[in-house]
Amino acid sequence: MKIVSIVGARPQFIKESLVGKKLNEFGINEILVHSGQHYDFNMSDIFFKVLEIKNPQYNLEIGSGTHAEQTGKIMMEFEKILMKEKPSLVLVYGDTNTTLGGALTAAKLKIPVAHIEAGLRQEPKDMPEEINRVLTDRISQFKFCPSQKAVENLAMEGMKSGVYFTGDVMLDVFLKFKKGVDMETVLEKYDLKPKKYVFSTIHRDFNTDIKTRLESILKGFSRIAKQMPVIFSIHPRTKKRISEFGLEDLLKTLKVIDPVGYDESVALTSNAFSVVTDSGGIQKESYFAGIPGVVAMKDTGWIELVESRWNVLADADEEKIYDGVFYHPDPADIKEIYGNGNASEKIAKIIRDAKI
Ligand code: UD1
Ligand code: UDP
Repeated sequence: MKIVSIVGARPQFIKESLVGKKLNEFGINEILVHSGQHYDFNMSDIFFKVLEIKNPQYNLEIGSGTHAEQTGKIMMEFEKILMKEKPSLVLVYGDTNTTLGGALTAAKLKIPVAHIEAGLRQEPKDMPEEINRVLTDRISQFKFCPSQKAVENLAMEGMKSGVYFTGDVMLDVFLKFKKGVDMETVLEKYDLKPKKYVFSTIHRDFNTDIKTRLESILKGFSRIAKQMPVIFSIHPRTKKRISEFGLEDLLKTLKVIDPVGYDESVALTSNAFSVVTDSGGIQKESYFAGIPGVVAMKDTGWIELVESRWNVLADADEEKIYDGVFYHPDPADIKEIYGNGNASEKIAKIIRDAKI
C-alpha cells in the first residue's frame, strides 16, 4: 500500500517521527511531504535530526504568509504530487494550515484522508486551528482520536463512523525519547537547577498579535522571575511581535532562548517547577512528566487536564499566570487518558488493514 503523509510545522514533525517508523514496520510505503510552513533550522531541520525522521521526498517550500496564501499554495503544489503518486490514502496531523491544505487537496481528488489528532474542540471557534480541525475532521474518512473526549466531540457533531480512539501519538514519542535524553547536560547548558525554574513558550496568534495580551503575559513572566528563573523558548512569531510592539524591556529578567530541539524541550519540561504555555504539545508533556502547567488560554482542546487540576487556565492574565505557577492544587489521578504509548502502532495497523 502506498500512502502520502504531509507535515510542515514543528509539532507535526514530532508526531510523524514514530508514526512514520511504524508504517514502515507494517510494510506500508509512506511518501513524506514537507509543506515548508516552518523552515528555520530550529523550527524544522533540528527535529528531523534529533528524532531521526527520514528525509521528505518532496518539500513544497510554501514558507510564511497569510492563511489563504499558505493554504492555497499548499493545495496547488500538493495536488501535483498526489496526481503523480496516486496514493491510496493521505495522512494529515493536528490543526495547522498544512493539515487543512493537505486534507482538502486529497478530498477534492477523492483520495481518502486520515486525520491524526481528530476531534479536539475549543473556544474561540474562530481561532485558525479550530477552523482547521473542524473542517479536516469533516472530510476525513479515518479520525484517529487521542482521547475519549475527542470521540465524544465528534459524536456530538454527528460523526461516528471512521472514528477510532487510538491514544495520543505525542505520548508515544515522549515516552520513547525521554529515556534517552541527557537531562543533566541540558540543565547545565542553561545554568538551571532541577525544579527551580519555570519553562515557558507562547506562540498563539491571540496571545502574540494583541499587544495588551502579550504585554500582560510577559509581565506575569517578569513577576515570576523575581522568585525563580523563567526560561522562555521564543517562537519566531512571538519574537517578531515583541520587537514590533516595543516590549523588549519585559524580557530583561528572563532567560530568553531560541526554539530548541525536541530533546531539550523534553528535558526543560521534565525538570521544571512548573510550565507556562499556550502550546498544545507542552500542555500535555508537562502532564506526562508529572509537572503542573499553567495554560495561557481561555479554553483548551486538552480540557481533561484542567478538569483534573494538572493544568490551570490563566488566559493572558498576569495575576492568574503568577498565581497558577505558585499555587497549583493537588492534581487528581487520570491514568491512561491518552492511551498507553501505543497510538502510533494502532494507527499503522488500522491503515494496513483498511479496505481502501
Ligand atoms: C503554526 C500553526 C499552529 C501550531 C504552530 C506550531 C497554523 C494556522 N498555525 O503556528 O497551529 O501550533 O504552527 O509551532 O498553521 N516563522 C519564522 N520561521 C519559521 C516559521 C515561522 O520566522 O520557520 C514566523 C513567520 O514570521 C511567520 C510566523 O512565524 O509568519 C508564524 O508562522 P506560521 O507557520 O504561520 O504559524 P505559527 O504561529 O507557527
Ligand atoms: N518544542 C520544542 N522546542 C521548543 C518548544 C517546543 O521541541 O523550543 C516542542 C514541544 O516539546 C512539543 C511541540 O514542540 O512537543 C509543541 O509544538 P508547538 O508548541 O509549536 O505547537 P502546538 O503543540 O501548540 O501545536
